[in-house]
Formats: sequence, C-alpha cells, structure tokens
Amino acid sequence: MTKSTVIFQPSGRRGRVNSGVTLREAAQELGVEIESVCGGKGTCGKCKVVVHEGFFEKYGINSRLSNLSPMTDSEKKHLKNGEIASNYRLACASRVEGDVLVYIPEESRGGGQVIRKAAGELDVSLNPAIRKYFVKLKPATLEDPEGDLERLLKELEKTHGLRNLKIDYPAAREMPEALRKGGWEVTVTVWQDKEITWIEPGNSERSLGLAVDIGTTTVVGYLTDLETGEVIEVESMMNPQVPYGEDVMSRITYSMTHPEGLKEMHRAIIKGLNKIISKVTKKAGVEARDILELAVVGNTCMHHVFLNINPEYLGLSPFPPAMHSSIDVKARDLGLKANPGANVHLLPIEAGFVGADNMGVVVATEPHKQDKILLIIDIGTNGEIVLGNKDRLLSTSCATGPAFEGAQIKFGMRAAPGAIERVKIDPETREVEYKVIGDAKARGICGSGIIEAVAEMFKAGIIKKNGNFNPEVKTDRLRKDEKGQYEFVLAWAKDTSINKDITVTLADIRAIQLAKGALYTGCKILMKRYGVDAVDKVILAGAFGNYIDKEASMVIGMFPDCDLDKVVAVGNAAGDGARIALLNRDTREEANKVARKIKYVELTVDKDFQKEFMMAMHFPHMKDKFPHIKNVLDRIPG
Ligand code: FES
Repeated sequence: MTKSTVIFQPSGRRGRVNSGVTLREAAQELGVEIESVCGGKGTCGKCKVVVHEGFFEKYGINSRLSNLSPMTDSEKKHLKNGEIASNYRLACASRVEGDVLVYIPEESRGGGQVIRKAAGELDVSLNPAIRKYFVKLKPATLEDPEGDLERLLKELEKTHGLRNLKIDYPAAREMPEALRKGGWEVTVTVWQDKEITWIEPGNSERSLGLAVDIGTTTVVGYLTDLETGEVIEVESMMNPQVPYGEDVMSRITYSMTHPEGLKEMHRAIIKGLNKIISKVTKKAGVEARDILELAVVGNTCMHHVFLNINPEYLGLSPFPPAMHSSIDVKARDLGLKANPGANVHLLPIEAGFVGADNMGVVVATEPHKQDKILLIIDIGTNGEIVLGNKDRLLSTSCATGPAFEGAQIKFGMRAAPGAIERVKIDPETREVEYKVIGDAKARGICGSGIIEAVAEMFKAGIIKKNGNFNPEVKTDRLRKDEKGQYEFVLAWAKDTSINKDITVTLADIRAIQLAKGALYTGCKILMKRYGVDAVDKVILAGAFGNYIDKEASMVIGMFPDCDLDKVVAVGNAAGDGARIALLNRDTREEANKVARKIKYVELTVDKDFQKEFMMAMHFPHMKDKFPHIKNVLDRIPG
C-alpha cells in the first residue's frame, strides 16, 4: 500500500497515511479534530479545509491540490466559487493520493462539546438492583470439606436471608481465590436477590454503576455511586454511528443495504461506550471492573443496534419492535468492558419509534402519577411527545431533523466553545446582543442560539409570520447573499474568530420551521385525540438541557399556548430516567407496567396531519391563538 505524507496546520500534526483514505480519516488517525456534523457523509459542508500548494522545504514535501482525488459534486455544492479558487476542499470527500499540507480554518476546527447533558440532583430512593454482602465463612477443614459455593450459600442464607441464589460463571471462577485471599472473608455482589455476580476478597464497599443515554447524535455515560446516588463522572461523545446515517431511518436503511451494516454499527457503539467507560473510570481513579451494573436508554433503533438485533422491521409498517418489555443482558455478551458479571438493564420500549429513551423521560417526569395533564416534549433528532396523566397516556414521535442541534444550519455548530447560545435583538434599532459559550469569539450558532435568533428576528419584525424576511426593515444587517437570498447578520466578521459574518439565512429559517412545525403538529394531534384544548403543564426535555429559552420556544411555536410559568425545561430527562432505573429497581417494574399503558398514535395517518403541519409552519402558528404571550406578539412591529 502506498503511503503519503499529510500535514495539518495550524497544529502541525503530520503523519504517513495510506493513499486512498479521506483527509477526514487521515485527521482522525493523526488525532486532529475537524468539525463534522454529518459524520463525513458530505452533506453538512462543515469540514472545509484549504490545501496549500508548493514545495515546503521545512517538511520536505511537495504539496499539490492534484495530490487529492478530483472534486466531487457534493464538494461543488458546498463550496463557493471563491473558495474553490482558493483551494478549499471538503475533508470527508477528498482522498489522499500524494503528499499534502492542509490548513484547517477556524470554523472547521472541532472543539470539545460542552456537556449540556450534565447530571442534576434526582429525587429517588436508593434501591439498586445489585447489593453487596459481606460474609465471614468457616474455613474448610478435613472434617468439614464442603464445597466453597455450598459454604457461601449457607452463610448468605443464614446471615442475610438470601435463598435459592444462583452463581454467574465469572463469579464462580473468581470464588476459590477470593475466599482464600480474603482469609474466608468476602464481599458478594448479588443481583436482584437472585444471582451472585461477583465475589471480592475482604470487605469492599464500593458499588458503582453506569447509566447510559444513547441518543441518535450524542451518547452520555454517568458513572454513579450506587450507595449514595451521586454521579461521580459524566462523559459524552458524538454517537459513533453518525457516519452510518444522521437519523434513525438512514441507519435502518444502512443495516438493510449492507450485509455487515448491523454488525458495524453495533461494534461502533460498543467501542464508543468502552471509550466512555475508560474515560470515566480513569477520571474517577477506579477500574472498569468496579462497574457492577448498567442501565441503558435509547430510541428503539439505538436499542436494537446496541443489542445487535436487526432494526429492519422497525422501518416497515406496522413498525413492530423486536420486544416491548425491558431486557437484562450480560455486559460481557455485548463486549462491554465493565465487571465480567455486570448486568445491563434496558428500559422497555413503548412503540416502533418511541423507545426506551422516552420511557426514561416518563420515569423521570412521572406523568402516570399526576392528576394534571402534562405535555412532555423530548427534543432531539427525533421528537418524542407524551400527553396525559394518571388516567390515560398517549405518545407519538415526529421527525424534527437535526436543526435544533445546530445541523443543517449554515453557521450551525455543536454546543462547543465559540457557539452563540443566546441572542437578543433590539426591536427598534435591530442591533444584536449575543452570548457565546466559553471564553471565545463567536464561530457559529448552536441549537439554543438558533431558536433564540429566529424568535428574536420574528419579535423585531425582521421575519414575518410565514418565515420570509421583511424587506421593509431598515438595517444593514439585513442583506442579500451572492444568490440574491436575504440573510441577517448576527455577528460581524470583526467580532468572530472565523473572520466571516455569522448570518441566519432563509434556508436556516425553513429548517427551523420544519422542525418546530413537526413538534407543534405532534402536540396538536395528540391533544385532539386526547380531547383537550389546553394542557396544565409543558415539560421540555432534551439535548438543550436547561438552556432552552421557554419564551423563545413558544414565540416560534414549538408547542401550543400554555402559561409560561407552567412550562419547565428539565434537561436530559432520558438520561435521568436511566439514572433512576440504575438506582432503584422498583422503577424498572413500574416502567414495564406504564409502557404497556401508553397508547402510541401514528401521526402521518391522521387525516388532518398535512393541514395541521402546514399551519404549524408559521410563527407561532397560522391560526392558533397564544393568549399567554399576547403582550409579546402584540408588540411585534408591522
Ligand atoms: S463532514 Fe464533510 S460534509 Fe459533513
């Protein structure tokens, strides 16, 4: 295999890579981060790099643009003429065919994502599925040569009342050594009062678990102390399955069209979780084998692929999941590097697309225990909605797309340093104030930033109800781009780290309209089926964590009118649900019961779906009234 030298600037990382790999793959190999929202599919246009041509004596290479594969159509689509003339390429589309020196512009440099799925306090009584028991045994003698296991079982029954225990194979293997090393004193881990899953010499009190939320785009792991409920470390990463498809449907298609597709995606998520395990345990100064139990949530497709179960049938009517009820699997069977006896609990699945992640949200927000009618909206790449109270619950899912996560937005980016996350626009002067994540200059807009930007543009009369720009507005921030389309400048080039104006384009607004229209339609159809015109409380959950501005989200019409005091943002409720299931085994049973009671509503077959969706594309809605933000809407100029 021929090798070529690739040097990345400004970091100066260099290495010899196999010819034929993409620049993005070369960067990954050399540990250089390049922004990639689409995971290298050539659809987001975020991985722009510049090739410097010439002989670089310092490095001894002759870098040529022609040392890369010819420009592809997707590159031509994403690169402007000026950029093409300046040797710009997309890193994920250009293959290395010779030596190159590549410069990564500021806007394409990946930055560590700010974990917005941080762990808040949970109100949960501690009753985890595993418990540790310390036992002292009488040593075996010639007069009493009973087997180690029988001796141990008798003692566990005598001192702790545990009967009919089975022993898991790794624990059985560990037992004779542990007993002798501990001088016949051992700590026994028992799962659900049924099975001995681990044996350690002496008295070991540490009991750790890992709660995991596998989102379509982001994966989060919470290393948790099972004795105190405290989260010790949190680690998140981009879901390593993103390269196989941005959303659930494209991953299902990938597994259908590639004979090894399911296996590849399964391996990718297991590898990713092992990375999370290694990071959290290292940070906490513990071993991976200290993780004795795991609880996992994810939508149905993530759930199936994690278990290496074919997700194909989820994509075909009537969309049945492989199973509804919760399932327990040994971590070792999945290839997870936790304790060899550790068990992985997956929460139940409601319906085809409403999965264990939504059950996590239900476990965390408990609509099934309320008199009041709750509308719970979990905003992610797929929006999942639950409506109801203790008497009756309905759920649905809608394809919101990744716009709320900063993807499909011209200057969209992840919630990383440099992302505009808050926006205010003066309705008179149309001047903009914004807040950036971290101590950095602006280089893009994240999900919460784009929602606020659009809401503020609407409030200031810059965009109309139908999402079009209002050309009457007098401000030099409103201008036409090179294609003659209006755009609004949020940040001037001089104030950014990318030396470019950061704008909101008409296409960005359309992407937000589609996403929010899908959510609103979902809420409306559920409310119609439920027979209510209003709800008592709206709960916003999802990737934004607590950062979503509730007024802005109502101003753009993400959900029907409600008293703003009754709208609460709860952060990553799916992850909270996984933590609760990790800490309290009774909630697992309860989740199974509630999951069976929730009725799934398929939106697209509703006769009003198209009409409702069209009306919901307007800001905040074509016809529906919003009495609770009337004062805000009445002030809109024009
Ligand atoms: S990563 Fe290259 S276009 Fe998205």
